Amino acid sequence: MRVLEPGDVVDGRFLILEEIGKGGMGVVFRALPLEGGRDVALKTLLPRLADEPTSRARFTREVELIRCLKSPHTVAVDALGWDGEVLYYTMELLEGEPLEAFIRQRGRLPAALALRIAAQILQSLTEAHDQGIIHRDLTPSNIFLCRQAGDPYFVKVFDFGLARHLDTTLPRLTIGGMAMGTLPYMAPEQLLRGQLSPATDLYTVGQLLYEMLAGQNIYNGLNNASIIEHKVQGRFPDPKDTPLADPLGAIIIKALQRDPDRRYRTAEQMRQHMAILGRLLPLHEAEASKAPPARNACGTINRPCDSPPLQSDLVDSDHNAARRPNTAESQLPTSRPTIAALPVVTSPVTRRRSPRTLPSSRPTTGSF
Ligand SMILES: Nc1ncnc2c1ncn2[C@@H]1O[C@H](COP(=O)(O)OP(=O)(O)O)[C@@H](O)[C@H]1O
Ligand SMILES: [Mg+2]
Repeated sequence: MRVLEPGDVVDGRFLILEEIGKGGMGVVFRALPLEGGRDVALKTLLPRLADEPTSRARFTREVELIRCLKSPHTVAVDALGWDGEVLYYTMELLEGEPLEAFIRQRGRLPAALALRIAAQILQSLTEAHDQGIIHRDLTPSNIFLCRQAGDPYFVKVFDFGLARHLDTTLPRLTIGGMAMGTLPYMAPEQLLRGQLSPATDLYTVGQLLYEMLAGQNIYNGLNNASIIEHKVQGRFPDPKDTPLADPLGAIIIKALQRDPDRRYRTAEQMRQHMAILGRLLPLHEAEASKAPPARNACGTINRPCDSPPLQSDLVDSDHNAARRPNTAESQLPTSRPTIAALPVVTSPVTRRRSPRTLPSSRPTTGSF
C-alpha cells in the first residue's frame, strides 16, 4: 500500500495538497479534484491498517452507510475509490475545528452554546437512527464545528467508521470480538457487548453535553479500569460543582442511565427536551445572578467560568444524596425520575440556584 504525500495524484483524479487530520483508522488530506471544483477532504486508511481485510471492509462500509445520509449536520461523502494501491473516499472539506480542539481552547462553554451544538448532533443522529444506523463513536474529535453560512458553530458529524447498521443480517465487523469504540465515550452496552440501539449514541451525547459544560470529560482523571467500572455500574462523579448540578444535569443524567430503556427513546425526543430546558436557562441565570455568591469547595467565591472545574470526588450519583458530605460511591438509584417528568425535573432551576453552576459572569456572545 502506498503512503500518500503532498504532490501525489490519487486515481488520476485528486492531487494531494496537505495532511489535515489523522485518527485511529485513517489519514485525511486536503485534495484538489483535477477535473475541477472545490478542494475536497480525501480519507485513506492508516498504512498499518491498509492491508487488513476487516479495516478495509469497515472503511467501505463507512462510505456505504453515510452516502444515504443527507442531513446538513452529517458530512457529505462523494467518491469511494481504489486506484490499485490506495483505497480512499472523498467528502466535503470541513473548515473550522473539531469540537475537541474547541473545548481544549475555550474550556467550559456557555450553556446556550453547548445546547445548540448538542441539538445539531442530535439532528444528524435522528436521520441516521431512522435509517437504522448507529454511529458508535461520537467523540469530540468526530464532531466538527464549521463556519458555514455565517454560522461559526455549524455542526457536522463525521467518522462513521465504527457505525453499524441495526440490520442483524449484515456481518459484524469487530476485531477479534473486541468491544469497538473510544473507551471514555462508550455506553455500558458497548463495553459489555450488549444490544446496541439509538440509545447507545444518546448516552454519548449526554457525555458530550457534560464535557462542553465542564470543559473536560466526565471521567477525567480515572484510569481505564475505573472508567469501565463506573460505566458498567452506572456511576458518575459527584454532581456538586459539575454540570450535573445545573438544570441541564437532568438531561445528562437521563442520557447516562446504565439501562438503555431508561434513557431518551429517540434523538428527537432528547433534542426537544433540551429545547425546553434551553428556554428556561435565561430564567435560571437571572435568578442565579440575584442569589448571594456561593462558596465552592475551595472556599473561593464563584469560580470563573473559564477555569477548569474542580476535580470532583466520586460519590453517590443521586443528585440529592450526593449533596450530603462524604457520601460513598454507589449505584444509580432505580427510582430516579425520568425526563417524562420534565416540568418537575426542572425544579432545580429554582431549587439549586448556586451561581457556581450557571454563573451570570459566564461569557456570553451574541453569536449563538
Ligand atoms: N471532511 C473533513 N474535513 C476536514 N477535516 C476532516 C474531515 N474529516 C476528517 N477530518 C480531520 O481528520 C481527522 C481524522 O478523521 P476521522 O474520520 O475521524 O479518522 P479516524 O477514522 O481515523 O478517526 C479528524 O479528527 C479531523 O480533524
Ligand atoms: Mg475519528
